Parts: sequence; structure tokens; C-alpha cells
Amino acid sequence: MLATVDNKKKYSIITYGCQMNFSDSEVVSSILNSNGYQSSDNYINSDLILLNTCSIREKAEITIRKKLESFKKLKKKNTNLKIGVLGCMAERLKEKFLIEEKIVDLVVGPDAYRDIPNLLEEIEIGNSAVNVILSKDETYDNIDPSRLDSNGISAFVSITRGCDNMCTFCVVPFTRGRERSRDPKSIIKEILKLKNDGYKEITLLGQNVDSYLWYGGGLKKDFKNASELQKKSSLSFSKLLNLMADNFKNMRIRFTTSNPQDMSEDVLNVMAKHKNICKHIHLPVQSGSDKILRLMNRKHTVSDYKELIGNIKKIIPDCGISHDMITGFPNENDDDHKMTLELMDYVKYDFGFMFKYSQRPGTSAYKKFDDNVPEKVKQKRLEEIIDLQQKHSFMNLKNYVGKSCEVLIEKESKKSNKYWCGRNDQNIMVVFPKKNHKPGDFVNIEINDNTSTTLIGTS
Ligand code: SAH
Ligand code: F3S
Repeated sequence: MLATVDNKKKYSIITYGCQMNFSDSEVVSSILNSNGYQSSDNYINSDLILLNTCSIREKAEITIRKKLESFKKLKKKNTNLKIGVLGCMAERLKEKFLIEEKIVDLVVGPDAYRDIPNLLEEIEIGNSAVNVILSKDETYDNIDPSRLDSNGISAFVSITRGCDNMCTFCVVPFTRGRERSRDPKSIIKEILKLKNDGYKEITLLGQNVDSYLWYGGGLKKDFKNASELQKKSSLSFSKLLNLMADNFKNMRIRFTTSNPQDMSEDVLNVMAKHKNICKHIHLPVQSGSDKILRLMNRKHTVSDYKELIGNIKKIIPDCGISHDMITGFPNENDDDHKMTLELMDYVKYDFGFMFKYSQRPGTSAYKKFDDNVPEKVKQKRLEEIIDLQQKHSFMNLKNYVGKSCEVLIEKESKKSNKYWCGRNDQNIMVVFPKKNHKPGDFVNIEINDNTSTTLIGTS
């Protein structure tokens, strides 16, 4: 039946935003592949273009709107072309896309991807197609993700969906719904398949991995109503991590993102115990001022955070630590900003992601506070924290010079085809001459130079 391949409709997915979105696109791709669609690397020739969108900051939404705008011409040329909006913007803007932006045919929120084939049929008969219903238990646990644009070596495996933390600045709880955890059996099954396919590294993924809790399914907030048996046999993140490390001894295990208020000492002990769990923790703090943390509804103080950092350094002395920081949150004054710089000086992070506060409609910060830090001041503060981070990154990476570290080779270096690149345990990129090595090899690299983002060495 050779003809069926050509008869299949072609689709492309363009993904924006966080790792969870990239992981979700692999789920969507799998659903489409099993429903008569075929993926295409060139969206120009596709019958269906899906944009997996991000709402985290206004800038992200503007970029995506521009992309949508650019499809107008394409749609004029190909009247059969269908365009769909997935992800957080779909949930946030719902029907608005179909009504105001006539080029969108399909709007599907993060919990409704199984419905895409039905919705595509609805479009065919001229109906509009929207499903943005948030779910209590959807984790896509029985879907085998199609690894899009994969290097065949490292893969994301999602373990939780949604977030219950309600940081006042964040749209995620609204766009991705309440927090729920995935059945550990299905996590093991997915990793086993990756292992058999030759993958060497997995990253357990969630908005808030430390609050993973499996008690048989359902929302995390409903755990209090679980039966005694469910409570007794429940599985926390540290137990899950331990289980994965024991079951997949020859694979590297990473996880992201951790939340200071939920990270337990048990997790640190499990990390210290297993060689195959990478020694890196991404630990967003957002601000170094208790006043701002309170306004953000973060459930940790600066001193709680420092205590946690102390514990990490004590239990896992060689652990890499990175952060997310927001600058210019409402009512942030020069003193608050100084405290952020002081906290950065205290921790000396290896790297970080730093953002200007962006007011998001619907969040409680939007409702309660004026976005009252002038743009110029936000920008200046952002530049200051970026400069400081670069200084720390350079200093920390300099410490690797003269030492050796194990690197998993991922791909060719962007700068030269004579070099490989891969990451060390601490999630730092290492570049070195290819010699006889190949992607997927674990190699020991002697570090002889560094920039603020990369280590340079030789095997
Ligand atoms: N726990 C999540 C956080 C998602 S958002 C995770 O998996 O990483 C990623 C980062 O974006 C946050 O840590 C925060 O630093 C930043 N961010 C979120 N909302 C923001 C906003 N309204 N303005 C600026 N930055 C924001
Ligand atoms: Fe957002 Fe805070 Fe959750 S940053 S994803 S509400 S931990």
C-alpha cells in the first residue's frame, strides 16, 4: 500500500516556550501520526500548521502573533491550509483567536490534545474547533511521544502537569491547570523504550517536580481525601527519583524545575547516593527580597532559600546550581534590587535565566498591583543582574580548568565541525576535538579553557 504514504496529510508543529511545550509537541505529533497525518519539516508545504504557544511574558505572545500574521499570505495561496493554536495562549485567549483572527481554524489547550483528530474532522465539515477544557487527570501517560528534532541521545519525560503554587505573577496555573502526577509505571515504560532506542539521558519534567505525588491518580490538592491505603502506598518525588536511578543505572537522569518551597532533603540524599543522577539543580528564586517574595506569593523567605543552598552544598558539594530571577516586580525599590544582587553574590550561581517583570492579565499581581517600576529602571536592573551572573559564571567555570569531567556527547559544536559538544554532570556545555568519539559516548575531558558559558577541553 505504497500510495497511503502520499495520501497522508502533512503537518508541522512550531513550538515556543518552555521544555514542557516541546515535550507536549512530541505528544501531539504522536497523536497525529496515529490518525493518518504525516510530519513534515517544512511548514510551507504542510496541510496543517500547529503553533504550540507560550504566554509566560507579553513578549512571547507578541512574537507568536507576528508569526500568525505571517501565515495570512500562505493561507491565501493554499486555501486548504489549516492553522491551529495549541498551548498556553490557546487556553488564555480561547475563541478570541477564531473570531478576531480569522486565520486560525483550531484552538486546543494543553489538556485537550487527544481531541485534536475529532476537532480536525469538525473543521472539515465547516464547524469551528475549540477545546480548552482543563483536566483533573490528563497526563498523556499511555502516549508514546514522537521524538521531534531529537539528537537520539537525550529526551524529556514529563512526570507532572500543571502547578498549584499560584505565584502572583505567573499564568501557568491558569493556562495549564491544577497539578497532577503521572503514573510511575508509565514513566518507567517510556524510559525503557528510550533506553532500548539508544537514548542515554532523560530529564524528568514538570513545572514543579519536587511536588510529584502519585497516589493512584487525581489532583495533588485532592490527596487529603485519598484512602489510607493510597496514602500509605503513595510515591513522592524522592522515591520516584530513587526508583528511576535504580532501574536505569546506565542512563543519566536529570530533572527540572525545582521549587525551593517543595524541595526536600530526601531528594538531595537520593541525588548524592546515585552516580547516574546529574549533580545540577535549577532552583528559581525570583527575588532576593523578602518583601517582594511575599508579594509574589512565594512560600519561602530568603533565609529559607539560603538554608536550602547550604544543605545542597553540604550534601552534594559539587552540585551545579542555576536560577530564574525577575526584576522590576511591582513595588521593587533600589533596596530590594540590592538584596537580589546580594543573594546572587551569596549563592554564586553557575548560570541563570533573568527576566523583566511582565504583567499578565488574569494573574493576581495584575489584579492587585500597579506595574509601577518604570521600563528604564527594569532594564537597568536587568542589565546589572545579567552582568553579575556573567561574572559568577565565568568565575565558576574557571574553577574547572585543570580538572577533568565526564561529558555525554550530544552533537557537533556550532562553532566548528572538528569539535563535539555535550554537557557535564553540572549541566555545563563542554566543547572538545572529535578524535574517534561519537555522539552518545561518555568521555572524560580535561578542561583547559573557559568562557562564561562553555568549557573547552580535550579527551
Ligand atoms: N516552574 C516553572 C516556571 C515556569 S515560568 C518551570 O518549569 O520552570 C519560568 C520562569 O519565567 C519563572 O521562573 C519566572 O522567573 C519567569 N516568569 C514567569 N512569569 C513571569 C512574568 N509574568 N514576568 C516575567 N517573568 C516571568
Ligand atoms: Fe509559575 Fe510559580 Fe508554578 S512560577 S509554574 S506558579 S511555581
